[in-house]
Amino acid sequence: MNKLDNNIHPTFDRILKREDKEKLLNQRSIVIWITGLSGSGKTTIAQVLEIELHKRGYLTKLLDGDNVRSGINNNLSFSEVDRKENIRRIAEVSKLFMKGGVILINCFISPTKEIRDQAKDIVGENDFFEIFVNTPLEVCEERDIKGLYAKARAGLIKNFTGIDSPYEEPENPSVEIKTEECSITESVQIILDKLLLRIEYKND
Ligand code: ADX
Repeated sequence: MNKLDNNIHPTFDRILKREDKEKLLNQRSIVIWITGLSGSGKTTIAQVLEIELHKRGYLTKLLDGDNVRSGINNNLSFSEVDRKENIRRIAEVSKLFMKGGVILINCFISPTKEIRDQAKDIVGENDFFEIFVNTPLEVCEERDIKGLYAKARAGLIKNFTGIDSPYEEPENPSVEIKTEECSITESVQIILDKLLLRIEYKND
């Protein structure tokens, strides 16, 4: 059947491509995916990373669990199924931003290999830059910045990651940060050392 016979009128030749957006922004887009326990330091590292990238002229978008879960994903719980749906939606939204040339900085516990693989599949392996913020549970619990570990231990929060819900460490992240061994500035520098090459715009 001729394409115009079924009322479908493709307009692909008029849609600007990812490459056009990247050229305009003078950057290569990517999804930086930061995984780690609650209170491990994901968002703190992401915020400093975003400032450093902004200073260098990169357009970024930071997404994190507490923000996304109070908006687009406010109907989701912390059951295994809902965590999977949480990450699926985030990965899809990230892909849309990425196609618009933006560099995503995502901070989500994303606790299991299956959940992270799902995100990687949606975004595409070559565009997925995984960072593992490796802070031991004892340290996160001792810091307990949001007071959630105490509540989880008291049985006031169910399915809390690391307490009564699993966290599987990534096996092969692009970068691993041990927050006990390096400062925030050092952590961000380690990330930049690997990342800048990847996001630099090359005219080829
Ligand atoms: S994920 O597991 O689905 O990836 P996400 O990163 O979106 O989690 O949200 C984690 C944040 O939600 C935590 O930093 C914490 O502030 C809050 N939170 C509330 N309940 C839980 C829970 N049961 N387990 C983990 N985090 C929780």
